[in-house]
Amino acid sequence: MTQDASERVLVLAPSGRDAAIAQAILAEVGLGVAVCDDLRELCGQFEHGVGVALIVEEALQGADYGLIARWIGAQPPWSDLPIVLLAQRGGGLERNPAARRLSLALGNVTFLERPFHPTTLVSVVETALRGRRRQYEARDRIETIRAAEELLEQRVRERTAELAAANRQLADQIAERERIESVLRQAQRLEAVGQLTSGVAHDFNNLLMVVLGNLRQMQKAETDPANLRRLQMMVQAAERGAQLTTQMLAFSRRQQLDPRAVDLNETVLGMHDLLQSTMGGSVAIVTQLQPDLWPAMIDPTQIELVILNLAINARDAMEVGGRLTVETANVTLPAAIGPEEPPAGDYVMVAVTDTGPGMSEEVKARVFEPFFTTKGVGKGSGLGLSQVFGLAKQSGGGVRIDSLPGQGASVKVYLPRADVDPQRDAPQHEPNSSADAANLSVLVVDDDSAVREVTAEILGELGYRVIEAGSGGDALHLLEHEDRIDVMLVDFAMPGMNGAEVAREARARRPEVPILFVTGYADTAALEQAGEGGILRKPYLERELAAKLRAVLRASPTANAASRRAKLSGGQTSAEL
Ligand SMILES: Nc1ncnc2c1ncn2[C@@H]1O[C@H](COP(=O)(O)OP(=O)(O)OP(=O)(O)O)[C@@H](O)[C@H]1O
Ligand SMILES: [Mg+2]
Repeated sequence: MTQDASERVLVLAPSGRDAAIAQAILAEVGLGVAVCDDLRELCGQFEHGVGVALIVEEALQGADYGLIARWIGAQPPWSDLPIVLLAQRGGGLERNPAARRLSLALGNVTFLERPFHPTTLVSVVETALRGRRRQYEARDRIETIRAAEELLEQRVRERTAELAAANRQLADQIAERERIESVLRQAQRLEAVGQLTSGVAHDFNNLLMVVLGNLRQMQKAETDPANLRRLQMMVQAAERGAQLTTQMLAFSRRQQLDPRAVDLNETVLGMHDLLQSTMGGSVAIVTQLQPDLWPAMIDPTQIELVILNLAINARDAMEVGGRLTVETANVTLPAAIGPEEPPAGDYVMVAVTDTGPGMSEEVKARVFEPFFTTKGVGKGSGLGLSQVFGLAKQSGGGVRIDSLPGQGASVKVYLPRADVDPQRDAPQHEPNSSADAANLSVLVVDDDSAVREVTAEILGELGYRVIEAGSGGDALHLLEHEDRIDVMLVDFAMPGMNGAEVAREARARRPEVPILFVTGYADTAALEQAGEGGILRKPYLERELAAKLRAVLRASPTANAASRRAKLSGGQTSAEL
């Protein structure tokens, strides 16, 4: 029978035949026995497993049994090694102090007096082994419990880690959500402000049209130099008002744009002198132009205004001089972060960077809002960057500001890449002749009687015959009953039928009559739907009205009819009509 090392009987009986006898008796009942020569070997064997130690008393006499006592003392809590001491004859515990000491030092000791009967030895050893087995069972249970505890702790650790990861993920999601919400809030705020400003701009443009139109008429009639000077001041103030409404419309992305393929390197180079005189001598102007710059699709006049606006901001920021860098580059952008940024794609960038004090986060968060300014009363209207924002967005691009307090500011305007090459326009020669209009009739459609009146006056001076309509319905009625209508001048934003609807109905009735839209602002998308036709922005100058009217007449097949009729009726018609 094979025996587990942990159940073997270790025998220490260095002298005499006791060891051999004990081994023989125990082996006979199938117990595993190992004989040790001395105490040291016995203790060494303990390490490999032991069921019972069978020790002849004399082996301990005179020996340093501290070794075995230490091993006994160092046992794990479940272990209490049974020791069978083969005592000398007559060595009863009560009369043998040495045996008593041994019993105290070695703990679980059973004394067996010699000579012993083999059955007694076997039963004492087997009883001790049974006790030892119980100890092993206890050990196994303790280990099972420990393993279960370990597993539990491991599970707790894993679960805690999972919870921490889920927590982190949740925190990240919350942060991301907050970021998106703030971008959305910002976009909604800009949108709401945009609607407000465009509404205000529209109403003011109508007022300014009346003011400017009448002022100019008065200027023509006035001869007194003092009055003329006053009128001039009034015109200038009204024009400044018109400039503000332009910027407001630009912000709300409702200005009329004339985008075309533009080489921005040329634009920047062409502006160098203007920038230098704007910035003054204390600012060095550096240009960094990317060779092979892609053409940008942008209104050339507006982008110049934008660069100038940014340069003025830089000048105002750099009170004591510094460096202004105007840079162009081809860039491919990833997804946008803020509402002012363009969507992912290819852009032509123009950046204006200064070495001024830069912007704080609070300022940066609000710079695109119209009327947000940190400049003193009368120094800034807070519309510069709003205009930059509106133009970039309306053009299909965007804008980004990189700035830290104390480290200057860099405003980057991204414009869509044009897929055609820039072409240089031949300057248009606009003749300024009122004779063009001889005998042509204009149907003026505007709900604002003051605007209608001043428009009629200007048209009259240009030589046109004027028919007025205060609404779309009136205009359509006139179209049906009045033969001589050569061109229509239609206000876009009117109550009831708007300009686009009037145009659609008018075209159905009189397709040959060209239409020129006039607008204080215009929903550009709606205007595009309105189809062919020129657009004139209020408030307009007399020569702008004259030029636009000529242009729509020239572009229309009606022009020929009109000119024929003009000839027939004996009027003068200029060659270019
Ligand atoms: N380059 C810059 N450095 C530091 N701050 C700037 C810079 N550009 C703009 N700002 C800040 O942004 C604000 C808004 O600029 P924005 O151009 O819209 O209006 P403004 O310059 O104050 O007035 P306006 O341009 O209408 O005359 C400024 O008042 C200023 O505080
Ligand atoms: Mg400004």
